Amino acid sequence: MSFFGELFKKPKTDAVFDVKSPNGRVVATFMLDHGQISYFVKRDEKIVLRKSRLGLMLKDASPLADGLSLVRAYSRSFDDTWRAQWGEQHVIRNNYNETAIYLEEVEKPARLLTLRFRVYDEGVAFRYEIPAQPEMERLIISDELTEFSVDSNSRSWSIPAYQPDRYEYDYVEHPVYSLTESVHTPLTIQTPTNNFVAIHEAALYNYGGMTLKINNQSLKADITPLSDGMRAYVELPFSTPWRMIIIGQDALDLTTSRMMLNLNDPPREDFSWVEPKKFLGIWWAMYVGEWTWAPGERHGATTEHAMQYIDSCKNLGVNGLLIEGWNDGWEGDWLENGVSNKFMEATPDFDMQIVADYGHANGVELIGHHETVGFIDNYEQQLEDAYRYYKRYGVRYIKSGYAGSKMTINGRREYHHSQLGVLHYQRALELAAKYQIMLDVHEPIKSTGIERTWPNLMTREGARGQEYEGGALKPSHACFLPYTRLLAGGMDYTPGILDVTNFSKRMATTIIRQLAYYVTIYSSMQMASDRPQFYEHEYPDLWEFIRDVPLSWERMVPLLGEIGEYYVVARQEWDGSDWYIGGVTNEEGRKVELYIDFLEPQTNYVAKIYRDSEDAHYRDHQLGYEIEEKVLRQGDRIEMYMAPGGGFAIKLHKQ
Ligand code: NOJ
Ligand code: CA
Repeated sequence: MSFFGELFKKPKTDAVFDVKSPNGRVVATFMLDHGQISYFVKRDEKIVLRKSRLGLMLKDASPLADGLSLVRAYSRSFDDTWRAQWGEQHVIRNNYNETAIYLEEVEKPARLLTLRFRVYDEGVAFRYEIPAQPEMERLIISDELTEFSVDSNSRSWSIPAYQPDRYEYDYVEHPVYSLTESVHTPLTIQTPTNNFVAIHEAALYNYGGMTLKINNQSLKADITPLSDGMRAYVELPFSTPWRMIIIGQDALDLTTSRMMLNLNDPPREDFSWVEPKKFLGIWWAMYVGEWTWAPGERHGATTEHAMQYIDSCKNLGVNGLLIEGWNDGWEGDWLENGVSNKFMEATPDFDMQIVADYGHANGVELIGHHETVGFIDNYEQQLEDAYRYYKRYGVRYIKSGYAGSKMTINGRREYHHSQLGVLHYQRALELAAKYQIMLDVHEPIKSTGIERTWPNLMTREGARGQEYEGGALKPSHACFLPYTRLLAGGMDYTPGILDVTNFSKRMATTIIRQLAYYVTIYSSMQMASDRPQFYEHEYPDLWEFIRDVPLSWERMVPLLGEIGEYYVVARQEWDGSDWYIGGVTNEEGRKVELYIDFLEPQTNYVAKIYRDSEDAHYRDHQLGYEIEEKVLRQGDRIEMYMAPGGGFAIKLHKQ
């Protein structure tokens, strides 16, 4: 590490600092120009972000954006390698150059503001830090002025923000200049000079989530407001989340960046109790209408059904079972009634003790479920007791849910991604850590990498998942995810549904594509989402893949892809030598040639290949598939066909 600093004796309202990536190719330039702050970014001498404004607007105080002078700047280099607890990359290098620029208002009250830049080979991050200072103990942020001035002729792929279904929308391509409404991050962009850029944030705590919108031809941060219109109430000292710009030469480059995790702190406590999990669930039967969440004749979560599912888990070699709809609160219109959900009271036909004991005797642990419907006031009153309740029955995993268009917090309706929403998710997570509970959060706050610090945050939903099948999912969706939502980390997509031709939930997928998802969509908790008979009796040949596919990976090698078109990735088993390859395509069938250069040299791998048949099609021939075995070695090339709405999955076992 090298440290150096500069001390300026006189207030200085003009200054320029270049912060270069370790390989020198990415440069962020901070500018103090007549007391106003801004930055721009270049890669290989070419502009990625034009001059972009910086600053914070405050309620009842003048902005922290201009009238500033330089106090000093401090730079350092950092290079460290750390091992993840689980994830899609085991060993991660964190290598950057950092400059902190300390600023002070020229006029009284001479408030202080620090801008900290970190520049990586794969992009730029910066944040605002407001130190403790005599004139200011707390502040109310009414707007963040941060801009990301990409060329407005760039293409972009995004989902709209401030919508009733939160992040659960189709990805849409827009030229940047036509983004009139706010969009969520990660926002993925292709510039006219062919840089691929993803704008996102890291370490989102105690602040509104950042959305982006067009303002004067420039993309500007639009921090999710609270119901009173303010963006955040903070006490000093305070740091905003990191604003992050990942830059790649092609879209696949973006998927290998670990900047977001690197911008988060290592865990502060011992999380060795955390482990990834595969599980079945009393779940899809409700979606296809065989069972219901609510009690009644077709109630899904009965003691009897749970015991049958436990038997199936045992037969199938899966040691986790999710049970939804076992508690009071699902009667009638549960989305409306959610305010009265009870998290410790079972319906009369469900006996938690019997089910937990039976699971225990058969080596199957239960995955608990908390559907809050966003009624946070109701949930937080019960939260700690509800965790304790589950712990009494040996439950270590909870899937939580926040259905509903907004949250009810302190009696007010707030966005899930507002500061109050962020604070709730964090309280639930930290309390879960206290009870050694691992979470799978549906309708979550987007990931900003805090799972590095809180590894019990196993996975999230936070995008359209397979619950939208049966009409609302297009094959292209899973070809957008890797380049957009999944840049923010794992997703519980609820893969593995093999009853793809079900008349009430006919799916826009071939059956083989359901296996591919376990490789193309990373998640440290993965559900085998269908009813067990489809694994035990209908497709035991396909089950073998779902059973074996790992939940953590040593590393990933993206092979081929284009945003919204297709995606092919190879992943090496965590601490192991087997490899898995998954591919998905959109509505178009296509042949791809895979160059197998990542295997160990001079070694045979038995490849088990699960592929769509030539005549398979997501619309009218979903069940056409073939399984083939052959030996592959490093340097081989294989051609794979993906049917329209299809894909493939390969397991490579080292001999
Ligand atoms: C939405 C979740 O995404 C889904 O998995 C869950 O079954 C329902 N809410 C009910 O909680
Ligand atoms: Ca959902």
